[in-house]
Amino acid sequence: MLQDKIAQYSDEIHAFSAGTADELEQFRIRFLGTKGIIKDLFEEFKTVSAEEKRVLGKVLNEFKKLAEEKYNQLKDSLSNTGSSRQTHGDLTLPGNGLELGARHPLVMVRTEIIEIFKKLGFNVAEGPEIEDDWHNFSALNFPEEHPARDMQDTFFISLSKGEGDQGSESVALRTHTSSVQVRMMEQGKPPFRAIMPGRVYRNEAISARAHCFFHQVEGLYVDENVSFADLKQTLFYFVQELFGEDTKVRFRPSYFPFTEPSAEMDISCTICKGAGCQMCKHSGWVEILGCGMVDPNVLENCGIDSKKYTGFAFGMGIERITNLKYEIRDLRMFSENDIRFLKQFKTELI
Ligand code: PHE
Repeated sequence: MLQDKIAQYSDEIHAFSAGTADELEQFRIRFLGTKGIIKDLFEEFKTVSAEEKRVLGKVLNEFKKLAEEKYNQLKDSLSNTGSSRQTHGDLTLPGNGLELGARHPLVMVRTEIIEIFKKLGFNVAEGPEIEDDWHNFSALNFPEEHPARDMQDTFFISLSKGEGDQGSESVALRTHTSSVQVRMMEQGKPPFRAIMPGRVYRNEAISARAHCFFHQVEGLYVDENVSFADLKQTLFYFVQELFGEDTKVRFRPSYFPFTEPSAEMDISCTICKGAGCQMCKHSGWVEILGCGMVDPNVLENCGIDSKKYTGFAFGMGIERITNLKYEIRDLRMFSENDIRFLKQFKTELI
């Protein structure tokens, strides 16, 4: 019977008291919500006879008023004592943790690379990201109109001063950190022993495997009697420090305009240990850097006597190395700033 139900619910409402905003909200949903008891009672009311309606209509409206008044009254009293309740609250609840930032994985790996080369006596140097043609290409022995310039799809910057002006100077976002080698050699005197980390840009469609910007660490060692054996030993030491002593290396002949001879260095896949996986395309080897003996033309372009001095250079992508260390399969993650990705790299701050 509708009337009995109303009487029962009224008792419940009279007896109810809310200790927290949550409990009060539960009360509101139960009685006053869109799928609540009062809604149901009104539905049921539609089914009673006209005669009953006359009596019950009044009863039901009063019941509704009771629920609303109770709700408002509890809401008022909660918000009056609320501030003290909320701050003192339940002292057994865990506190709100202090969110600490995390190092970006690329920064962590860059720091690690720098630390290893520091132990070998390498300094750290930097150069500009907006470069002229000389430092990015010409001084590095890329002949004008030579197809080698197309090896790296370049973002050129237009310097034209107005209509009709083609812009006399060619300026671009650097395509590699090798430009910093040139700046360093032009400005100083040998010996040089430095690594040069920095961001580089290439006109590539963005995908899991390519991005329009990424990070490199360049290395340069110029002195008297520097040989390819020095290059190999330096890079071998670096790999063992970074990836562990059981990591193997191999050098494959390659071509860069600014080194002669040139090579690419592979390491045994750190993920499958050579057994074959997606990362090494089932070859067991992953390329991590390009290197070679600095071409005498480059030394001369920078005002260094190539009869007296020799040197080696290398350049590696930090993203590639980070992928190998942390098994990251999508380059885009490095620049999306997704906190769920970045949070995973919480370590001791170095
Ligand atoms: N600059 C080359 C690249 O970006 C890498 C490299 C650096 C190769 C130094 C040889 C020596 O691919």
